[in-house]
Amino acid sequence: MEQTKQLEEMERYVYTIFRKDATGHDFYHMKRVAKMGRKIAFAEGADPFLTEAIGWMHDIGDHKLFDEPADAVAEAQGFLRRIGLEEDVIQEIFLACRNISFSKGRMPDSLEGKIIQDADRLDAIGAIGIARTFAFGGAASRLIHWPNDPKHSSVQHFYDKLLKLKETLHTKTAVHMAASRHAFMQDFLDQFFAEWDMPCDDIR
Ligand code: ADP
Ligand code: NI
Repeated sequence: MEQTKQLEEMERYVYTIFRKDATGHDFYHMKRVAKMGRKIAFAEGADPFLTEAIGWMHDIGDHKLFDEPADAVAEAQGFLRRIGLEEDVIQEIFLACRNISFSKGRMPDSLEGKIIQDADRLDAIGAIGIARTFAFGGAASRLIHWPNDPKHSSVQHFYDKLLKLKETLHTKTAVHMAASRHAFMQDFLDQFFAEWDMPCDDIR
């Protein structure tokens, strides 16, 4: 099977797995990461096929999302074998996937893995990042904001993680793309607190 067709098959496979996710890890997150990764790969001289493939697969086996992570990975590897990927390519894809997640604090070795880590982080900031944060928070029963005990609120997540992400990017291309997304998040938080602090004594 030619590579373009293999990538289309991956898209279909990932659609069946993530189409019902309501935690911000839905099919379109995978699609944005895969396609943004491909774009960054061209700019950075990386392998576009390998980068896009890692993008499609990067959240398969995430412990937050799968009850049986090892089974999900084994199943996806079987699928990649069936559509004709070589064993060493499959291993390379999942080696990169294991190291992408921010929460694990690791970094992929390959340029293609680093690019997908960048694309995943770009999708966690900006307007989409804001939307995903509150979707994730809602799905995990987190409060929007709780001034007296902010530890577990979604707004706190911006300070714990999201506002720091632009400093952790690997590629120049992603750093460039991150600037306006980062600024938008800061504007959002300014507006959020301005509205939060607005006096409302006249409301009955
Ligand atoms: P990764 O898989 O790269 O480690 P996460 O799964 O932690 O990333 O984050 C995925 C999405 O979920 C991001 O949009 C992130 O903002 C959101 N998210 C993760 N943890 C929290 C949290 N504690 N509160 C609100 N949103 C969160
Ligand atoms: Ni992701």
